[in-house]
Amino acid sequence: MLDFREIFGEFGTRALQQLQPEVAHDIAMKFLSLDPLRFFPLTALDPSNVSFQMEVPGIGLLPHPVGLAAGFDKNAVAVSALTRLGFSSIEIGAVTPLAQAGNPRPRLFRYRSEQSLINRMGFNNDGIGPIRARLKTRKLLSSSNVTCPLGVNIGKNKDTVPDAAIDDFLEVHAGFKDLADFFVINLSSPNTPGLRDLATPEFIGKVARQFGSEVKKTWIKFDPDMNRDSFQKLIEATGNSGLAGLVLTNTHRVKTPEVGGLSGRPLLARSNTALEWAWDVHRGKIPMIGVGGILTGGDIVEKISRGASAVQIYTALAYRGPWVVAGLLNEAGIRLRELGFASLHEAYGSHY
Ligand SMILES: Cc1cc2nc3c(=O)[nH]c(=O)nc-3n(C[C@H](O)[C@H](O)[C@H](O)COP(=O)(O)O)c2cc1C
Repeated sequence: MLDFREIFGEFGTRALQQLQPEVAHDIAMKFLSLDPLRFFPLTALDPSNVSFQMEVPGIGLLPHPVGLAAGFDKNAVAVSALTRLGFSSIEIGAVTPLAQAGNPRPRLFRYRSEQSLINRMGFNNDGIGPIRARLKTRKLLSSSNVTCPLGVNIGKNKDTVPDAAIDDFLEVHAGFKDLADFFVINLSSPNTPGLRDLATPEFIGKVARQFGSEVKKTWIKFDPDMNRDSFQKLIEATGNSGLAGLVLTNTHRVKTPEVGGLSGRPLLARSNTALEWAWDVHRGKIPMIGVGGILTGGDIVEKISRGASAVQIYTALAYRGPWVVAGLLNEAGIRLRELGFASLHEAYGSHY
């Protein structure tokens, strides 16, 4: 039976989808920043009798694998509300040391029939100071709040020259060291000139040296557009670096119909291939978070079977609305039963 929250979620999502995508996102964030669900009990998220628990090395035992990908709550304005929507981890950012406006609008485009988005946001964010202050206030209130592991996606300012990128990364890391459970160094956004060029084995070595013992809490996020050889060299370097794991993948760089990064359904195959190429190198030794193109619960099972310990979504939230996590888990449960698995964990690595 539909309850009023479902009707509201469905109606709200449809209404927002009539608007220019970034306007819709801004309205959704304003609403979520009010933490509107705090007066209601959380909905039970797991209606099936399948266990979705996944252990993610360095992050912990999660009740289910579905986290929120970077870019949705860049400024950490709605972490509490997003936790109440059922995500098992939330990655804020990308945060850069200084605030920056990003690229001129329009910079986010919706392709409904393909269930995809193209964005060229360009790391618009409030910078370390205000975002840190927001998270600190939340932490002070957290005894009365729901919580889940919080990650910070680390970016570099547009004007930072490549040689100084490592300093930006260290600065953002230092700014959130006491507040975040994990970090993700973003070497993969297509919208900051020169960022992807930093994805080299040498730079990963430099990160490992400069982050010292903090590498254990730091993941690295790659793009899906490299050739197999270059990509696998990076995976080897990551394995040697002591970094916590791999987030695969960011968006696919496109030039048409808009310049930017493509996410959603058309990204699924590419990002799944990245999981396979990475597994081919490390065979389960490096933890992976699978992100890219998840629109159904079956897509989650696919990524776990290819060796991801957890997954993240962005575009599915824009298309399916606020109750997407419960919907995805329902479908994942059905898919697992079809495949004869009693738990999601049993599906881990089963593709190989
Ligand atoms: C509007 C938008 C902004 C994004 N910003 C970031 C970002 O700041 N840092 C990052 O690592 N990924 C960013 N991403 C990429 C997502 O985190 C994710 O990797 C990608 O969208 C693929 O997942 P999906 O197909 O579920 O959307 C952004 C994606 C979108 C659509």
